[in-house]
Amino acid sequence: GEAVTFFDAVGGEPTFRRLVEEFYAGIAADPLLRPMYPEEDLGPAADRMRLFLMQYWGGPNTYSAQRGHPRLRMRHAPFRIGAAERDAWLGHMRRAVDRLDLPPALAAELWNYLERAAYFMVNDMSDP
Ligand code: HEM
Repeated sequence: GEAVTFFDAVGGEPTFRRLVEEFYAGIAADPLLRPMYPEEDLGPAADRMRLFLMQYWGGPNTYSAQRGHPRLRMRHAPFRIGAAERDAWLGHMRRAVDRLDLPPALAAELWNYLERAAYFMVNDMSDP
């Protein structure tokens, strides 16, 4: 049969829902990051993030059907992302990944990607 994707291995869509829900609960309460999000309702942003991550890890391609090519660095260009924003973002993601209680090898693979992606998204190197 078909190879089991990472998406399947971690439990499919419900797992990504839990991840993104926990992450956005952190964003909602974050005085540095919350003001960066243009919409009052964080629900649509959470949906985009969830669909992107599901697609990245081998799940359905709904993200690109709705949004086109991810081009994430370009899509983040309007937001000033320095070390402080990156580290705050990663703090919420770390907590959200931990809450999933995945097998350690899967948690490490997910975290490794998220950490690299967050460093890649930095577009203002002027802060320490
Ligand atoms: C969108 C902030 C890193 C994935 C956004 C938005 C903001 C933001 C303010 C707009 C919200 C919206 O969709 O309306 C940040 C900050 C980061 C960061 C401060 C710190 C490093 C990342 C990383 C990923 C990611 C590492 C992927 C692993 C996304 C996605 C969207 C998004 C998929 C929606 C893109 C779209 O289709 O328009 N982010 N982000 N972000 N971000 Fe980030």
